[in-house]
Amino acid sequence: MTKKISALELTLNEPAPEQTLSAWLYRELSRAILDGRLPPATRLPATRDFARQYGISRGVVVNVFERLQTDGYISSEVGAGTWVNNRLPEAAPSRTKRLAAPSKVRPAPMIGLPYSGPARPFRMNEPALSHFPADAWARVAARRFRQHSTWLQMNDNGRGFQPLCVAIANYLASSRGVNCSPDQIAIVSGVQQALDLLARCFLKPGDPVWIEDPGYFGATIAFRNAGAKLVPVPVDGEGIRVSEGRRIEPRARCVYVTPNHQFPMGATMSLERRLALLHWAGETGALVIEDDYDSEFRFEGRPMLSLQGLHNGRNVVFAGTFNKILSPALRLGYVVLPPELVDPFLSLRYGTDLCSTSLDQVILCDFIEDGHFGRHLRRMRDLYAGRLAALMDATQSYLSGLLEIPNVRAGLYTAGFLQNRMSSEQAETVLAARGIETMGLHRFVLRRPDPRGLLLGFAAFDERSIRRGVAQMASALGD
Ligand SMILES: Cc1ncc(COP(=O)(O)O)c(C=O)c1O
Repeated sequence: MTKKISALELTLNEPAPEQTLSAWLYRELSRAILDGRLPPATRLPATRDFARQYGISRGVVVNVFERLQTDGYISSEVGAGTWVNNRLPEAAPSRTKRLAAPSKVRPAPMIGLPYSGPARPFRMNEPALSHFPADAWARVAARRFRQHSTWLQMNDNGRGFQPLCVAIANYLASSRGVNCSPDQIAIVSGVQQALDLLARCFLKPGDPVWIEDPGYFGATIAFRNAGAKLVPVPVDGEGIRVSEGRRIEPRARCVYVTPNHQFPMGATMSLERRLALLHWAGETGALVIEDDYDSEFRFEGRPMLSLQGLHNGRNVVFAGTFNKILSPALRLGYVVLPPELVDPFLSLRYGTDLCSTSLDQVILCDFIEDGHFGRHLRRMRDLYAGRLAALMDATQSYLSGLLEIPNVRAGLYTAGFLQNRMSSEQAETVLAARGIETMGLHRFVLRRPDPRGLLLGFAAFDERSIRRGVAQMASALGD
């Protein structure tokens, strides 16, 4: 090979903090070779000269040259020196065509959460993480780590860990009147994954879907991503207005509802509406998706029988989650499918992520079977009931004439309705400026006018912080 003799006049960037000298030098030299600043056949100085020129120890230079040689960037011969190779291992293409346009269905934009960092009153999507049953979880997990043969093998057919499905089927039968066999259950990462898969497996682009207005943005995103036509159907104190849905789009293929605790307004769907919805679905063959995201947290009375239970499982998919009960970071939920949807759902799921992680599933299964889950739930129910009562009480004391909270004793968050003629957006902005985290209800409407209210999370905050937060709200909204 002809070797150009060239004095090395290469400018090197500063090392990043915490980057070792050899990692830095390797990256700088390989980059310089790939982008042509050190062209093929350039001769490199002897390691001693190189080290002196750049003020680095010779040992580092020798190591890096050896690695560059092993990786095919440079060659050296005793007595002849070191030079850049003509054929490079991974030369970057000199021209890059722009990416082809994405498919016709454009991903729906994420809802911009108005806050980040550690939660402050009244962030809405956080349970009381400081009460996470860490000791019990750690004990169960340690036992399962040792018995690794059950979860290290990949024997999940996409439905999930069979004993967990059995435990969920029993739990749902007794707590929600859900009528299913464990084979109808698939473990997913949460309601969100269930909605995404259901929308893609059941709907064609353009299919009309009734969606509660105001409603859950995660459902809107899933249906939009599948290319469905969203049909906003207003909700009132009894849930979705079925007669309105029938009037606007009688032939919708699917309806998404949160009957036990309507998101975000808080209503429980009345029995009359439940039956009307199921009648319509029965007549038209539409699929009802029942999002049962937080019915564990009902502080007065019992949750109503699920739509799934009322209809004997036909036409209804029931989706639930452990992410609100334990932690949003857990990412485990479940879906109860009508028998004819099981195979299509599982095939689609197989093509996305095969199955949920088995270790988390076996730990959760033991956690339920050993009674920790039931205990944690009871403890959290009492804690949240106290926190909601503190919020309602403080609201009555400080926010009279400014904000009213309806008497819904459920959930991890509640809607509060403005009494001072402010819009939801104005109130959210004014409060955010004082460091109070709320979400204006305008964020959840599709077609309806602004309901003039705020979503207030109470689960993650102790009663003192709640009272303090309400007092701050009063001064911000009063001003
Ligand atoms: C109404 C509703 N459904 C579903 C979810 C998401 O559940 P998961 O975390 O299980 O995906 C949420 C989360 O806040 C929710 O509010």
